[in-house]
Amino acid sequence: MTNKKAKLSLSEQGTDIELPIYSGTIGPDVVDVGSLTSQNLFTYDPGFVSTASCESQITYIDGEKGILLHRGYPIDQLAESSNYLETCYLLLYGELPSSEEYEKFVSVIQNHTMVHEQIRTFFNGFRRDAHPMAVMCGVVGALSAFYHDSLDISNERHREIAAYRLVAKIPTIAAMCYKFSTGQPFMYPDNRLSYSENFLHMMFGTPCEPSKISPTLAKAMDRIFLLHADHEQNASTSTVRLAGSSGANPFACIAAGIVALWGPSHGGANEAVLEMLQEIGDVSRIDEYVARAKDKEDPFRLMGFGHRVYKNFDPRAKVMKESADEVLQELGIENDPLLAIAKRLEEIALEDDYFISKKLYPNVDFYSGIILKAIGIPTSMFTVIFAVGRTVGWIAHWNEMISGNYRIGRPRQLYTGHAQRDFVPMKKRS
Ligand code: SDX
Repeated sequence: MTNKKAKLSLSEQGTDIELPIYSGTIGPDVVDVGSLTSQNLFTYDPGFVSTASCESQITYIDGEKGILLHRGYPIDQLAESSNYLETCYLLLYGELPSSEEYEKFVSVIQNHTMVHEQIRTFFNGFRRDAHPMAVMCGVVGALSAFYHDSLDISNERHREIAAYRLVAKIPTIAAMCYKFSTGQPFMYPDNRLSYSENFLHMMFGTPCEPSKISPTLAKAMDRIFLLHADHEQNASTSTVRLAGSSGANPFACIAAGIVALWGPSHGGANEAVLEMLQEIGDVSRIDEYVARAKDKEDPFRLMGFGHRVYKNFDPRAKVMKESADEVLQELGIENDPLLAIAKRLEEIALEDDYFISKKLYPNVDFYSGIILKAIGIPTSMFTVIFAVGRTVGWIAHWNEMISGNYRIGRPRQLYTGHAQRDFVPMKKRS
């Protein structure tokens, strides 16, 4: 039980309300406002800037200090010493796996990578030039049609199998979205390859010759997936939780997360960053775009900058920037013009009072596009890649909620519409 209290004085009613305060392991305390409804009061927090929507043990973010922990482990240590599937295990089960647990997990994922052959027919309903995210939303949503009857979300084993299927199949579907857009045949997964090697094989391999996977590109791909794995209660994860709170099928919930991720303010930013860098075109034009970003009358924003939570730096952006340098050097792409623009843009923005005062720093999406472009991923696939990495985070949060005590999410509102009024027959309307 908590002994911390907040007191709310209601001047009109002349009464005070005591609200319990709870403390987490680390991070801000929370005020339990559940009793406000008994006073006919709601909290008001558009965009949930100051709202803790749930209790969670998966990821912790400190926006002021630029800290990101997955089950307590710092993201830079995981990026340096772990890999994507080991981080998936950590997010799903809460602890780093033993070597035996890791080998078993890798084997299970490898043996769930194929999708039902019927899934291939869904693609034919799309135009070849459809945005891959639109195709991804449709096909992942369709997965629920394949498993709807075999999934009892109250059954822990069923939830675990759903997690395996989603982590394993999402790269296969993502690669199919790309292949479909190119007119090339879909590639089956090759279970002899690592998760990221397999993804690159399905993306760029053809039935005509054995795949040649660059270890450098596979490592960069794995790092990209790892850095996107989870991020607390962001917009898409909150969408997955809200959809899941109604008892919806987890495949449908993940499809809801993909839809939410697509927006340019969220996961769609990596695609928007590349388009912005290509539009700027030369370091000589950076000042013009920085001025536009500061102009209230201009809707232009510097994509890849700013974050709801990070107000000093996004620790993932730091790791991503180092990876961008490594990948470009190892690929012999000296002086990539877009990377030169990105680095100069970052320098200028971080010296500019507007960005300093509003605490706008590069976020995870600022450098990821540079790496993805160097790997050969087309810009339209960038958010699809983000969705591949983030699927494990979405399913970990869904499972944490469903395995605990949860209620259907049902926010209220501040109503500013008409008070009740009587219907006016057509002939009496002015
Ligand atoms: C992700 O939540 C997560 O964890 C998300 C994510 C994850 O891993 O899941 O980290 C992934 O989505 C990263 C963010 C990617 N989005 C972008 O890079 C798009 C550009 N950034 C902005 O759209 C914006 O910064 C947000 C959406 C990221 C944050 O928006 P907020 O917190 O609601 O802040 P805001 O829009 O209210 O802006 C605060 C002020 C405003 O100025 P004022 O009204 O106070 O005068 O800062 C300005 C904004 O105009 N501002 C920017 C800006 N971002 C905010 N001005 C210029 N360029 C920008 N990029």
